[in-house]
Amino acid sequence: MNAAAKFKPRIFSGIQPSGGLTLGNYLGALKRFVEKQDEGIETIYCLVDLHAITVWQDPAKLRDQTREAAAGFIAAGIDPKRSILFNQSQVAGHAQLAWIFNCVARMGWMGRMTQWKDKTAGKNAEAESLGLFAYPSLMAADILLYHATHVPVGEDQKQHLELCRDIAAKFNHDYGVDFFPITEPVIEGAATRVMSLRDGTKKMSKSDPSDASRINLTDDADTIAQKLKKAKTDPEPLPETLEGLKDRPEARNLVNIYAALADKTPEAVVGEFAGKGFGAFKPALADLAVARLAPIATEMKRLMADPAEIDRILGDGAERADAIAQPILDRALEITGMIRSRRS
Ligand code: AMP
Ligand code: TRP
Repeated sequence: MNAAAKFKPRIFSGIQPSGGLTLGNYLGALKRFVEKQDEGIETIYCLVDLHAITVWQDPAKLRDQTREAAAGFIAAGIDPKRSILFNQSQVAGHAQLAWIFNCVARMGWMGRMTQWKDKTAGKNAEAESLGLFAYPSLMAADILLYHATHVPVGEDQKQHLELCRDIAAKFNHDYGVDFFPITEPVIEGAATRVMSLRDGTKKMSKSDPSDASRINLTDDADTIAQKLKKAKTDPEPLPETLEGLKDRPEARNLVNIYAALADKTPEAVVGEFAGKGFGAFKPALADLAVARLAPIATEMKRLMADPAEIDRILGDGAERADAIAQPILDRALEITGMIRSRRS
């Protein structure tokens, strides 16, 4: 039976607090998290601190970054009353279900993940943490612990979500149940893969050593404008149609960013700027980006001044998340043959 029919619509997604949030996180994920919330679907959003420690994190920095990411979510429009917002480590079921999935998933499945291959390329894979290898299994647990039916993400997470479906299907098959949904990825919009401002063939990333390669959600108006004006481009004017941007990755990236920020299609943006050079396009983009992003940075700063309030919001979110997760985890333990010995 197709899972979608049996399970009520529920959105889950997560972001690692392993650095500051970027424009890529905003356009590929966060902005769309807000849209889903505003459509009135049940939404659960998680700062995946257990995923973050698959590579070394300084503990004090991790705490700061988790609070900052929470502030970023709220500043961007996540309402912690309408959505559940929490940090992963506070709901024990994530790690518990991940263990079950470590026993369902196969080593070969993990070894085929391109993110694992990219992260270990040119390095000694043997020296990476076991957690980094098993990362997608924990991600499947995040999603399936809530029987989430839809997961909005950027393009780079597509393969991990296919693996989540494989894990759900294998669990259901191995135990002869129809318990976990076959979750749908939601990869939509003009900017599902925002590229570096310095190199149009590389993803914009919080871990890129060059700060000029990305826009951080904490950047102020001047910094945003400067970075966009200095972004790598080419001397050609913008073409009449998108086809003309095929071999111009930097130009295409800026058009996608503009489209996503303006809630337009890239086709419409090219139509608007056809024949104009970057001397005209970049200032327009900078103005738009500043108008959309600078208020988020200001609001983040305000929220960050009261870390106790952020912790309270995360604590409240964790309690509400746990209330959904616990019965699902209990049932998963029962299905796998664990004796239920706790008094309730
Ligand atoms: P991460 O920062 O790796 O935890 O990613 C959190 C979310 O942001 C995921 O849904 C990613 O797919 C999305 N994301 C991260 N970087 C980008 C990017 N450069 N373009 C679009 N989406 C991104
Ligand atoms: N792996 C995701 C990323 O780096 C983060 C993540 C962890 C996630 N668990 C998730 C995303 C569950 C969606 C659903 O982008």
